[in-house]
Amino acid sequence: MTYAVTDNCIRCKYMDCVEVCPVDCFYEGETMLVIHPDECIDCGVCEPECPAEAIKPDTQPDLESWLALNAKYAKEWPNITAKGTQPADAKEWDGVADKLQTVFKPGAAR
Ligand code: SF4
Ligand code: F3S
Repeated sequence: MTYAVTDNCIRCKYMDCVEVCPVDCFYEGETMLVIHPDECIDCGVCEPECPAEAIKPDTQPDLESWLALNAKYAKEWPNITAKGTQPADAKEWDGVADKLQTVFKPGAAR
């Protein structure tokens, strides 16, 4: 079992999740974070910390594409262990639908 970051993280990227993860298994892209499925210990503490409610357990139905996306980019993006500065317009993107199709960027954070 693992947890996965999903659509509403995109361009919100609040990063509160990073601060609470005991094993530092978040990886940072330009527009969102992902969780490394082999490093996540399923503790669940990040899920309620995300203001965008973007983190879901893999027991939730219809999460396959997000699990695959997290696994793919966790291998490509750099590890993040401390909360950075959230995007200035994060709140404006909170709740916008289908951000993966419209504003997701596949590049690493830096
Ligand atoms: Fe980290 Fe726990 Fe969240 Fe997994 S469930 S990403 S180990 S805080
Ligand atoms: Fe994203 Fe939520 Fe973390 S918006 S960066 S999953 S706190």
